[in-house]
Amino acid sequence: MTDKPAKGTANTPSNAQSNAMWGGRFAMSPAEVMQEINVSIDFDKRLAPQDIRGSKAHAAMLADAGILTKADAKEIAKGLDAVLAEIEAGTFKYSRSLEDVHMNVESRLKDIIGAAAGRLHTARSRNDQVATDFRLYVRDQIDGIVHVLGSVQHALAKKAEAHAATVMPGFTHLQPAQPVTFGHHLLAYVEMIGRDRGRFLDARARLNECPLGSAALAGTSFPIDRHQTAEALGFDRPMANSLDGVSDRDFALETLSAATITAIHFSRFAEEIVSWMTPQFGFITLTDKFTTGSSIMPQKRNPDAAELSRAKVGRIAGAFQSLAMVMKGLPLAYSKDMQEDKEVTFDALESLTLVIAAMNGMIEDLEPVPEVMRTAAGRGYSTATDLADWLVRELKMPFRDAHHVTGSIVKAAEAIGLDLEHMPLADMQKIEPRITKAVFSVLSVENSVKSRVSYGGTAPQNVLKSARAWLKRLEKERSKG
Ligand code: ARG
Repeated sequence: MTDKPAKGTANTPSNAQSNAMWGGRFAMSPAEVMQEINVSIDFDKRLAPQDIRGSKAHAAMLADAGILTKADAKEIAKGLDAVLAEIEAGTFKYSRSLEDVHMNVESRLKDIIGAAAGRLHTARSRNDQVATDFRLYVRDQIDGIVHVLGSVQHALAKKAEAHAATVMPGFTHLQPAQPVTFGHHLLAYVEMIGRDRGRFLDARARLNECPLGSAALAGTSFPIDRHQTAEALGFDRPMANSLDGVSDRDFALETLSAATITAIHFSRFAEEIVSWMTPQFGFITLTDKFTTGSSIMPQKRNPDAAELSRAKVGRIAGAFQSLAMVMKGLPLAYSKDMQEDKEVTFDALESLTLVIAAMNGMIEDLEPVPEVMRTAAGRGYSTATDLADWLVRELKMPFRDAHHVTGSIVKAAEAIGLDLEHMPLADMQKIEPRITKAVFSVLSVENSVKSRVSYGGTAPQNVLKSARAWLKRLEKERSKG
C-alpha cells in the first residue's frame, strides 16, 4: 500500500509525502488516526459522476470566460471523460490518502492529462464543489423517488379499480367501525403518496440553485459566469450568497424530512400487510415471491419484505435527526462537520428507494380474500351507524336519541348472539316500536358502503370514479415521460 500514513498519533516527522493537493506548507504526513477520521472517499466516491459533471461545466465556463485556454479546457474535458469511464468500468483506483472524491478525481486527471489538470481548480474550492455535487446527487435521488412513487400510485389505483366494490371492515382503534371497500382503503394510500411526491417536488424546487462559484466562502476575483454553470448543470439559477452557497444543507434536510414522512406512510401500509396476512385476519395472500419460510416451522409463510419495509423508517428518520444535529449550531460558512451529511443521506434515500420497490412489488402481488373480508365486515355490529342514521332519517329522531336506541338494540342482539342483519324485527320493535322491516335495507354491509356517497366517501361508485381519475392522471404523466 502506497497510501499508508504515519503510524500513531504522535507528531513524528516523517519522510512520507504530505497531501499533494494542499500539502505545500506541511512537512509531516497526517497521523493515522487523523487520516482515519478525515477520509471520506470510502463513501463519497458515490459522488464521482456528479463531481465530474460539475468539473466539466466549470472548465467549459472558465474557457468561455477566457480564464482557461480552449485547448486546456478541451484536454480537461477529455480527461474527465476518461476518468469517468474508469470509474464506470470499475478499474479506478481510489486512494485513501487523497481523502475524498474531489481529490481522487483531480489526481487521476493529472495522471492522464498532465499539468493542465492543475488549472481546473481555478476559481473553485472543494467547499462549493462538494455542495454542488451533493445537490446534484440529492436531486437525482428525488427524481428517481418521485418517479417510482408514481408507479406505486398506479399499482394501487389499478387494484383499487378492480376492488372498488370489495367490502372489508373499516377500523378505528383497530376495532371494526364501519364497512368500507378495499379499493377505498388502497386509494387512501394513493392520496398520501400524492402528498409525498408533492413534498419531494417542493424540496426540489428550493434545492435547484447552484452553489458552484461560491468558491471557498467569499466568491472569487476571477470573472466567472455563475449563470452559465448553473444552467449547464440544470439549476434554475446560481445561489445568491456565497456564504450560504457553501454552508447550506437545507436541501438535504428537507429531502430527508420528505423521505421520513414517506417512509412513515409505507410503514403503516406494511403493518397492515403484516396483520392482514395473519390467519386471524386472513384478508390477503402474498405469493412465494414476497414471503419467506421458517427453518424450523414448516407451516410458516412470513411477510419479511413487509416487516423490513416497516422497519426501514427507523434509519430514514434517524438520518434526518442525525443531519439536523450535525447542522445545529454550525457557524458560517463551511465546517468539516458537514462531511457527515453524506453517509446518512445516501443510506436513507437508497433505503427508501428499496422500500418503495418492495412495496410496489407487494402491492402487485397481494390478492384480497373477499369472502373473509366480507364476513369480517359484518362482524362487530359494523352497520350500527347505518341503523342510527335510518332512525334519524325515517323516524326523525335526533341523532343522540337514535344513537342510544341503536346501542340498546346492539346490546339485545349481542345477548342473543345475532348480528344486526339477522336480528328479528320483533326484537327491535321491543326497543323502538316504530321500526319497520324497511330497516333491513340499510343493515347489510353492501348497502352500508353503497350509501356512503358523500364526497370522498367509500361508496363503490365514488371509489371507481376516483381510481379512474388517478389512473388517467398517472398514465398521462407517464406518457409525457
Ligand atoms: N470531503 C469534504 C466534504 O465532504 C469536501 C470539502 C472539503 N473542504 C475542505 N475545506 N476541507 O465536506
